[in-house]
Amino acid sequence: MVENEVKESKPIIRCKNLSKSYIFGSEQIHALKNINLEIQEGEFVAIVGKSGSGKTTLINILAGLLPPSSGEIIIAGQTLTRLTPDKLSLLRRETIGIVFQMFNLHPGLTALENVELPLLFKGVEKVRRRETARKILHTLGLKDLIDNYPYELSGGEQQRVAIARALVNESKILLADEPTGNLNSILAHEIVTVLKEINQAKKVTIIMVTHNESLLNKDMRIIRLKDGEIVPQ
Ligand SMILES: Nc1ncnc2c1ncn2[C@@H]1O[C@H](COP(=O)(O)OP(=O)(O)OP(=O)(O)O)[C@@H](O)[C@H]1O
Ligand SMILES: [Mg+2]
Repeated sequence: MVENEVKESKPIIRCKNLSKSYIFGSEQIHALKNINLEIQEGEFVAIVGKSGSGKTTLINILAGLLPPSSGEIIIAGQTLTRLTPDKLSLLRRETIGIVFQMFNLHPGLTALENVELPLLFKGVEKVRRRETARKILHTLGLKDLIDNYPYELSGGEQQRVAIARALVNESKILLADEPTGNLNSILAHEIVTVLKEINQAKKVTIIMVTHNESLLNKDMRIIRLKDGEIVPQ
């Protein structure tokens, strides 16, 4: 029946009353204050805000790298704060890919070997590892550069390798903290285009932090942070 075909939207990330404070000497810094947020599967979200507004703190909490001071984070149906360390690692490995401003590629490994690493840790055998890594590098337009070492690649190319590495496990969520921060404006736009293509082709949910307003466009949902709070639209 037609009326039964109306699909419910499916949140892949939910934050409820999320707060984070850091203790710094005798001071308490309230980096995030009562964040309520719902992100649907397949969304492309840009998080913007001034330096110190809490963007990295939010990304690190969503990545399971940093515990919140209070509140709840539910990722793909699992409440992060209730998971054992092993279960949290598994969720991170299988569901979440992370890209940082610094590309963090292993300098002694080629592009292909860098992308293979997460599969190696997972115990995937060599032939399948190579094939999967090669495929994702092709998708990211690096077909002819897979045997290059990081120093033989431009900044934009290195970041694309880092994105390939973050996605090689078929992660459903890609968290990117200033992924274009080290790139010039042309390369920055290229990376955003690549992210958009991945978002559409693979239905990966993308959350990208940026302070570069020129990278924002109407295809993204924009969330503004100010002093640790979401600015109402
Ligand atoms: N480990 C820490 N210990 C103490 N204070 C911290 C720590 N990390 C961040 N902060 C503080 O928390 C607030 C939010 O920091 P955060 O790094 O999340 O901001 P940001 O929006 O990512 O900034 P930027 O654009 O400069 O990267 C800032 O006031 C910062 O000084
Ligand atoms: Mg930051």
